[in-house]
Amino acid sequence: MVPQIFIPGVQRVIVVASGKGGVGKTTVTVNLALALQRSGATVGIFDADIYGPNVPLMLGVHRQKRSQGMIAIARRKDAPAYIQPLDRFGLRIMSVGLLVGEDEVIDPARSPDAIGQLVVQTLKDVQWGELDYLLIDLPPSAGQPQASLVQHVPIDGVVIVTTPQDLSLLDAGRSLRLFQQATIPILGVVENMSYFICPDCGTRHEIFQHSEKWRPPALADVPLLGRIPLTPTISKSINKADPLVHDHPDDPVAQAFLAITAVLQSRLS
Ligand SMILES: Nc1ncnc2c1ncn2[C@@H]1O[C@H](COP(=O)(O)OP(=O)(O)OP(=O)(O)O)[C@@H](O)[C@H]1O
Ligand SMILES: [Mg+2]
Repeated sequence: MVPQIFIPGVQRVIVVASGKGGVGKTTVTVNLALALQRSGATVGIFDADIYGPNVPLMLGVHRQKRSQGMIAIARRKDAPAYIQPLDRFGLRIMSVGLLVGEDEVIDPARSPDAIGQLVVQTLKDVQWGELDYLLIDLPPSAGQPQASLVQHVPIDGVVIVTTPQDLSLLDAGRSLRLFQQATIPILGVVENMSYFICPDCGTRHEIFQHSEKWRPPALADVPLLGRIPLTPTISKSINKADPLVHDHPDDPVAQAFLAITAVLQSRLS
C-alpha cells in the first residue's frame, strides 16, 4: 500500500465526480463550496481537472504570468508546501490550470501516470492552512488523476453529479466503481439540470425522467442529495464569474445548494 498523503490542517476532503463531461461538476463544486462557507465553514477548492480546468474561470481568478512549461514534480517527500492558494470570495483556490496554463493542453496519452503525479504533488504543495472542507473538482471519467488521488489522498467522501438522462447515469455508475473499490464513502448524487424553470413565467417543467426512477445498479443505494434545475440564473452567474450562491444567496436555486450542504454535513459528521 502506497502511503497516503497527509494534508495538514484540512479536516475533510470531498471529491466531486461524474462519469460524463459537461454535467455541471464545476458549477456544483463552486456553488457547494460557497454554500458550505455560508454555513460558517472555511473552504478550499482544488481544481484537479488537468484537461479543462474551469474553476479559475468560474470564480474569475487568473494567473498573472506564464509558467515556464510544466512545473517540477520530483520533490523531496518531506519538502514543505510552498504554493499560496488564491483567495476569492473567502474561498482558498488552487487549480492545476493556474500552474500549467489555462490554454496549454496536456496530452493524456503521453503519460497518464505523470498526470496523476502532477495533480497529487500540486495538491500536497499548496499551503491550504486550516480548512473545514477541501473540495476537489475532477475531470470526467474514471482514469487519471482520479486513480492517483484515490491511491494517495485520504478522501472522506464523493459527491456524484449527474444529469437525469440515463446515459449520464450509467456513466456515473462506472466512475463510482473506482471509489467504491477503494472503500471511499459515496455521499450521494446531485441531480443537476434536473428540471427547467421558465425564466419568463417561473413555471417548473419536468423535461427528463428522474434518476430516482431510473437508476443503474451501481447507484441504487446511493442517496439523492438534491436536485438543481436547469436555469439561466446559474449559467449567467457562472458567466460573470460570480456564482449564484454568492451573487444571489436568497434565490430559491441558491437555497437548493444550501439544502444540499446541510445533508452533506450531516452525512459527514
Ligand atoms: N443547472 C444549470 N443550469 C444552467 N446552466 C448550467 C447548469 N449547470 C451547469 N450549467 C452550465 O453548463 C456548462 C457546463 O457546466 P460545468 O462546466 O460545470 O460542467 P462540468 O461537468 O464541470 O464539465 P467538464 O466535464 O467539462 O468539466 C457551464 O456553462 C455551466 O454554466
Ligand atoms: Mg468541470
